[in-house]
Amino acid sequence: MSLHFVLDPELTPELREEIVRLWVDVTNAGGAVGFVAPVTVADVRPVAETTFADVVDGPDRLLVGYDDAHPVAVLVFADNRFHLKAHWCVLKRVMVHPDTQGRGHGLALMREAERLGRKLGREALHVTVRGGLGLERFYTRLGYREVGRLPGALRVAPGDDRDEILMWLDLTAGRQPGDVTSDGRPVNPAT
Ligand SMILES: CC(C)(COP(=O)(O)OP(=O)(O)OC[C@H]1O[C@@H](n2cnc3c(N)ncnc32)[C@H](O)[C@@H]1OP(=O)(O)O)[C@@H](O)C(=O)NCCC(=O)NCCS
Repeated sequence: MSLHFVLDPELTPELREEIVRLWVDVTNAGGAVGFVAPVTVADVRPVAETTFADVVDGPDRLLVGYDDAHPVAVLVFADNRFHLKAHWCVLKRVMVHPDTQGRGHGLALMREAERLGRKLGREALHVTVRGGLGLERFYTRLGYREVGRLPGALRVAPGDDRDEILMWLDLTAGRQPGDVTSDGRPVNPAT
């Protein structure tokens, strides 16, 4: 079944709870979304609530993929909060529920983010990736390229430092008529 995507869904108490549980399940299955397993709802909820507040109050955006009525895929468009970096943004918390991984939902989520990134006038998308999990292959398949890495920047446990890999997708090549820049100006598809 293909996912149904919604940008900035209403963050009802039920949806918040489902996303927190998704985040916990993904982490406890070995996912690299800001925590190291094992985690509980109590660990994740405060970080999730800060994330939700930055979506509700701005400037971040939340993309949710629903399988039937339930969220199984999530990512956050994190604004750089710096006017010299307003033309691109960072994708954070890219996750698919472990029960539904391996079915193409991750690729669909990232392609929807790419489509929306262009529509929102962004000129590039950036993802930081925890080394040692092979995740960069997932992003490379989507056209992202490695533009650098911070050696041993992530201490996931004492004696277990991982590189932070910087991945980058240029969006300027695929601009469409009607797209706008991040400051609202129409773009010339020919440029
Ligand atoms: C990474 C993630 C979002 C991919 O979602 P998914 O639905 O499992 O991925 P898809 O089914 O769309 O897989 C697409 C391709 O990427 C590859 N891929 C998926 N997860 C991968 C991983 N962890 N490492 C390397 N390649 C991966 C798949 O093998 C597949 O390629 P193939 O068709 O050639 O076999 C998902 O595995 C996930 O949520 N992981 C845990 C959270 C996480 O670590 N997120 C990354 C934050 S930087």
